[in-house]
Amino acid sequence: MNILILGSGGREHSLAWAVLQNPKCDKLIVAPGNAGIAQIADCAAIDINDGGTVVEFAARNNVDFVIIGPEAPLAAGVADRLREAGVLVFGPSKAAAALEASKAFTKEICDACDAPTAAYGHFTDAAAAKAYVQTQGAPIVVKADGLAAGKGVIIAETTAQAEAAIDDMFGGEFGAAGAEVVIEEFMDGEEASFFILCDGENVLPIGTAQDHKRVGDGDTGPNTGGMGAYSPAPVLTDAVAERAMSEIIKPCMAEMAKRGMPYQGVLYAGLMIKDGAPRLVEYNVRFGDPECQVLMMRLGAQALDLMHAAAEGRLNEMRVNWADDHALTVVLAAQGYPGSYVKGSAIGGLDGLTQDSSNMVFHAGTAERDGAIVAVGGRVLNVTARAQSLAQAQHLAYEMVGQIDWPEGFCRRDIGWRALK
Ligand code: AMP
Ligand code: GLY
Repeated sequence: MNILILGSGGREHSLAWAVLQNPKCDKLIVAPGNAGIAQIADCAAIDINDGGTVVEFAARNNVDFVIIGPEAPLAAGVADRLREAGVLVFGPSKAAAALEASKAFTKEICDACDAPTAAYGHFTDAAAAKAYVQTQGAPIVVKADGLAAGKGVIIAETTAQAEAAIDDMFGGEFGAAGAEVVIEEFMDGEEASFFILCDGENVLPIGTAQDHKRVGDGDTGPNTGGMGAYSPAPVLTDAVAERAMSEIIKPCMAEMAKRGMPYQGVLYAGLMIKDGAPRLVEYNVRFGDPECQVLMMRLGAQALDLMHAAAEGRLNEMRVNWADDHALTVVLAAQGYPGSYVKGSAIGGLDGLTQDSSNMVFHAGTAERDGAIVAVGGRVLNVTARAQSLAQAQHLAYEMVGQIDWPEGFCRRDIGWRALK
């Protein structure tokens, strides 16, 4: 099989790494890719958000199967264009990708099938939104409806903060994403990520993880795309996962099919868990980054068979070979991230690291210049380890971090604390 993966982050490096372990992969191209991906696969600099370009590229390169990593091409309908052209693709249609692209849409789906989630109101003007806040009180959560790169959520401790957030959103702070606003009940509990493959009809859970969203140790400082992750997430026990499947995932997927927009791809459910009961925080229509890195580390070669079966509508034939292991990834980011940071610093020490099925450095924002690896993004490397225990995986990952020579970078020193406390 000739395979094309779209994306350029640590998520796509880990997808490429897993896919290449499967003998069914004859040739792999990643577009656009990064310096780490270029060490294991061909990379192609094409515009992955343009369906016509991707279809033409796939045809020219005899691609049999396309795996879409990030949400932007999904929201732009690239999966639809590929399917119309007869190319097998892993990833939802533009219509189904509204589960991530519109928070109001997700709330409506949950309402229609009684899936447990936060109580909410949906508003198109500030006065009505503020009146709702006054009736509900604080704490309360104010969200821009559309895609805002993870920044469109304000947890307001007071009604005054909530009103200020409403003014900011309707004032254009999040652009078009804030033209509509969802206001939600604040949910208390422990958050975890649940990943489920869907083929439009069948669903198959493939793993759990926990992310570390804040930039600083002890979960302090501003939100980021994620500073580290581990899998499995102890809070998402088998019993909680079963409840999530029967109360949230299966009803929502049935509702999507009923509406003529069957969901195919990976569904990433952000859950809030309290007293063994899961409630939905949000859906994403892609793998999490860096959660994908720890999932791929644990799944290995079978990841390709599972994604291929999802694309072909035969998930009912598949089962996951779970290993009784743990994976943990530490994100190395450029100093200053998630604010402004300098690009172009050189990263040393990578060549000496052992890279195997238990130790991997996945690249995110890297490029190669004159034979050296340089940082060109905010999140730059994902130092990932797999072991029999989470504590061991954490130890291995930080041991690798210690061997990397990059004074312009930093990482959190406490990845895994919640599970190890
Ligand atoms: P979202 O983009 O919807 O995932 O929101 C970003 C983060 O805000 C989530 O990962 C949660 O930590 C937090 N959050 C969102 N909605 C709620 C809620 N209703 N109650 C508590 N925390 C929330
Ligand atoms: N790590 C969070 C996300 O991918 O949305």
